[in-house]
Amino acid sequence: MEDLLLEIKDLNIEFHDHDVPERVVNGLNMKLKRGEILGIVGESGSGKSMTAMAIAGLLRRHDMKIGGEINFEGTEILHASRTEIRGFQGDDIGIIFQEPMTSLNPVKRIGWQVEESLRIHRPEMSKAQRYALAIDSLKSVELEEPEKTYKKYPHELSGGMRQRVMIASAMICEPKLLIADEPTTALDVTIQLQIVKLLQRLNREKNTSILFISHDLSLVKQLCAKILVMHDGRVVEAGDTLEIFTHPKEAYTKELIGAIPKVEKMKQL
Ligand SMILES: Nc1ncnc2c1ncn2[C@@H]1O[C@H](COP(=O)(O)OP(=O)(O)O)[C@@H](O)[C@H]1O
Ligand SMILES: [Mg+2]
Repeated sequence: MEDLLLEIKDLNIEFHDHDVPERVVNGLNMKLKRGEILGIVGESGSGKSMTAMAIAGLLRRHDMKIGGEINFEGTEILHASRTEIRGFQGDDIGIIFQEPMTSLNPVKRIGWQVEESLRIHRPEMSKAQRYALAIDSLKSVELEEPEKTYKKYPHELSGGMRQRVMIASAMICEPKLLIADEPTTALDVTIQLQIVKLLQRLNREKNTSILFISHDLSLVKQLCAKILVMHDGRVVEAGDTLEIFTHPKEAYTKELIGAIPKVEKMKQL
């Protein structure tokens, strides 16, 4: 399939740092097309972040065994060299995490951080070019007064603004894939919705594929046409979001949907 961006076959991730090996991802298969938004849902500890980190090439540990295939545009991530991986990260694959404060450097100005991927992946760019792109990127995530924000430090921004900065940094090289691992979990409900709308717009305008990881099914339902439900390291159900919400096949999915607060369900009617 030509428009396939990412294909994972039989991904297994096992920790060997205890006496008994612990398999945290078990036989995971998935496909992501260009421009598609796929949601991964499942309760805490189900293996969502481990999957995300494997895709981003961030799992390189000695006490861990990783098996299967992660094919990103013809490159096998699990067998790629460190140099190849560094070439991908921040350029073809952008990633944002739950708590932007821990990913942002407290002593560096916002602008410097937003430009980081450019310094790595576009070394030929001049300072002025980097500045122009950083301002564009801050604008594109709807931060007001981007020139002022550029000069600020992380602690001067609200949580929602910091997450927008993280998205601006992750998007500055226009990656083909954006992995968003619980990007709204630390934020207020209204801000969560704003971030979801922002991701939706960036996906539409730049055709970026998004892997949206969340335990919040109501958000996932708004953003993702397709979902993958994980439980205990396994995919228990996968397919069309509306179909799964209206006719969940697995008991676990029914439980997850049943756990969405009633008000949330009403809002979506
Ligand atoms: N260093 C480690 N050693 C053993 N197990 C780990 C380690 N790090 C994470 N895990 C386990 O991996 C499982 C999956 O974690 P994770 O992918 O972070 O879940 P999720 O993102 O869905 O909440 C969890 O059960 C967690 O306890
Ligand atoms: Mg997680």
